[in-house]
This record gives sequence, C-alpha cells and structure tokens, in this order.
Amino acid sequence: MAKIKSIWAREILDSRGLPTIETACQLDNGIIAIASSPSGTSTGSYEALELRDSNNPRYLGNGVLKAVDNVNKILGPALVGMDVANPLLIDHKLIEIDGTENKAKYGGNAILSISIAVVKAAAMSMHYPLYTYVNQLASAVGLKTPLRMPTPLFNMINGGMHGAGNLDFQEFHVIPASSKNFTDGLQSCAEIYLSIGQNLARRGAIHSVGNEGGYAPNLFTNADAIEVLVESIKSTTYQIGRDVFLGLDVAANSFFKNGEYTIRDKSSPMDDVQMMEFYKQLIEQYKLAIIEDPFEQDGWESWKKLTNSFSSQLIIVGDDLLATNPKRVEKAITEGACNAILIKPNQIGTIWETLKVIKMARDAKWRIVTSHRSGETNDSFIADFAVGVGSDYVKFGAPARGERVAKYNRLLAIEYELSYYKK
Ligand code: PGA
Ligand code: ZN
Repeated sequence: MAKIKSIWAREILDSRGLPTIETACQLDNGIIAIASSPSGTSTGSYEALELRDSNNPRYLGNGVLKAVDNVNKILGPALVGMDVANPLLIDHKLIEIDGTENKAKYGGNAILSISIAVVKAAAMSMHYPLYTYVNQLASAVGLKTPLRMPTPLFNMINGGMHGAGNLDFQEFHVIPASSKNFTDGLQSCAEIYLSIGQNLARRGAIHSVGNEGGYAPNLFTNADAIEVLVESIKSTTYQIGRDVFLGLDVAANSFFKNGEYTIRDKSSPMDDVQMMEFYKQLIEQYKLAIIEDPFEQDGWESWKKLTNSFSSQLIIVGDDLLATNPKRVEKAITEGACNAILIKPNQIGTIWETLKVIKMARDAKWRIVTSHRSGETNDSFIADFAVGVGSDYVKFGAPARGERVAKYNRLLAIEYELSYYKK
C-alpha cells in the first residue's frame, strides 16, 4: 500500500482553551490525514503521560511544544518510508521507540496523535469509511464484531472538576432506551437537555455550562441534581424506565481524601461502607442504569462488593480504576471488580493497545463504553472508532457545544450510511 512520506505536528487549542497537539500524516500517494489528541481534567494516576511544558510559562505551563518537537524531530522521521498497510505495526514501532511503560519519554499525547493520523490515512488510502477500517483493525487483534451503533450517555449536568464547584459527582447522565435508534435517542435527549435548562432557569439556578456542555448549576446536593433530571424529564413526553434511564459518573477519586469521601449530601465524611449505603439508596430510588467510578481508583474491595451485589441490574463502569490499561483490566476481570470499561485511547496512548484492551474486556463479557475527554477538539475520530469496535455505549458529553456535537453528528451520518447500505 502507500508509504509514509512525512509526519508533522502543531500546537492547537482544545475546548477548554488549553493547548493540545495536532498531527498530520502525509502518504506518498498524496493523502494527508490530520488528528488531534484529547485531554482529561479529572485524570487518573494510571494513565499514559500527557507531556506538557510545565517549566515554560507559556499557557501557564500547559504548552505542548515539547510533544510537538518529539513528533517533528524524532517519532515522525522514524516512521518515514513505513507502509501503512498495517497501522498496528506502526503503533508497535512507536511503543518501541518510546520504550517506557506509560509513554513518558515522548508523551502519550504525541504518540496518540500519530497513531490516529496513521489509521485515518490508511482508511483514506483504501477508500474505506473510517469505521469500517477500524472494524478490520479490531479483527486483526482478534476482536471480531459487527459494526454497531452505540447508545449514547448524555452528560446533562457537570459537577466535580468539570463544573462550577458545588456538586461533587462529576456527571449526571440521561440515556435513551437502547431499543431506540441513535437518531431518535439523540432527539429525545436533546429535548430533555432543553427542558433541564428551562427547569434550572425557573428555579433561579445558574444554567451556564461546564467542560462537557452539561449545565453547571448551583444546587445544594448531588441528589438535588438527580431530582432536577427527574423533574425535567417529567415535563417532556418521555418516561424514565421506558424511554430514558439515568446514570452517573461519580469520579469518586476527586473527592476521596485520607480514606474518606466528602460530599455535600452528608454532614460528615463517609467511609466505604457508608458510601455503599448511599449508592444503594440512589440505585433503588432512581433505578440507576449505569454508575462509573463509584469508588476511588485503588478501592478494589468496595468495587468488588458493589459488583457482587448489583451486577445483574447495574452497569458498573471502570474509568480511573482501569485507565484503559491491560494490567489493570486483567486484575479487575480476575477480581470481578466491575462489569464494564470506559475506553479512552489517550489513557493508553495507541490505537493498537486500545483495541487489545477492548478485546480483553469483550472476552470477559463486559460492556464497552467508548469515551471522549473533557478537553476535546472537533476531531470526530472517536465516533468512527466506537462504531468500528462495536461499542455498546458512547460518552461524548451533552448534546450541545461544538466539540461534543461534532461526535454526535458524526454518529448521525454513520447511522444514515449504514441504513442506506442495508437498503
Ligand atoms: P476527564 O473526564 O476527561 O476529565 O477525565 C471524563 C471522565 O471522567 O469520564
Ligand atoms: Zn469518568
């Protein structure tokens, strides 16, 4: 097939106004593909290293010029001349050149931007839709799956490190019934999103938005935020438990300190047992369908207990717990710590490694939730990736804000294409 002629990178801005890296891959057949790396705010400590120029005052120490240099001077030149017939071999080479466990030498952000750009360039060369090409790469690592339109988890209210500071839980989700097609699910939840905005305005609550486009209101407790979702859904034609369901990304790491969880719903900090009781109440009262990161990233025992008690009725998703990392995933499978994984390619750093982690999770019969990060660009690669690997769910934020709807709109296009081919 085509060979890599040149690879170059630049510093651009993400949706939070922070720099990120954008990389272009040019092939000898003239094709140029461009990709950027997303970036997390509430990052777990087991993620690949995101290289930032912390000693340089530009962008308050958040510049990515070192990562850009690493692509332009070291990683890119090392790949010139390689055939893109198998992008997974190129990922292998990148891992080898970096040589560290967590991409610390050249940066996970630098490496992932190349990895995605190469996959895009290869798909373009083959004249395949990107999702079809990803599906073939998945099958090359043994992950044989049909293309699948995922069910979206819409992040309607932003708390934790993504919000205005007074909600401890990070994300409050509304999820359309998976029997709905994507287009109808998007419509119902966009209507609910507007209804939540009206409800908050009526209450005199702040209804500006947080990092992921969900409202960041000044409510008293986390349970209040769930109540706002319930009330707002009631004022639409949709019914909880029939048309839509509720979910949470607690991101419990962000309020876990000295062995305790401190949240505004309770007057004093809670230990794991009290936190578990609190979750039991929420799960029963609101018939929660999904909960992500209910405990801190090393709280294995509590994860196991929750999964033991609720895995038949609740999707329990590991994000910071697993960090899209094969070693963490293996431990969680052996110990029965959760029944679903959040897939974020930049937590591990290459597409090849991400596919292998998804294969492990699938073999364990886990659900796959493919996710954006709180810092995003308009790159919609993750939407094609989600369909190509047969994800059950996707999490791309609220149905609002350009960098979020870029992904949802791409799923609309993919659903249209897939239904067209079926005719
Ligand atoms: P992050 O948040 O991108 O800031 O890590 C997303 C998540 O926790 O799921
Ligand atoms: Zn999360």
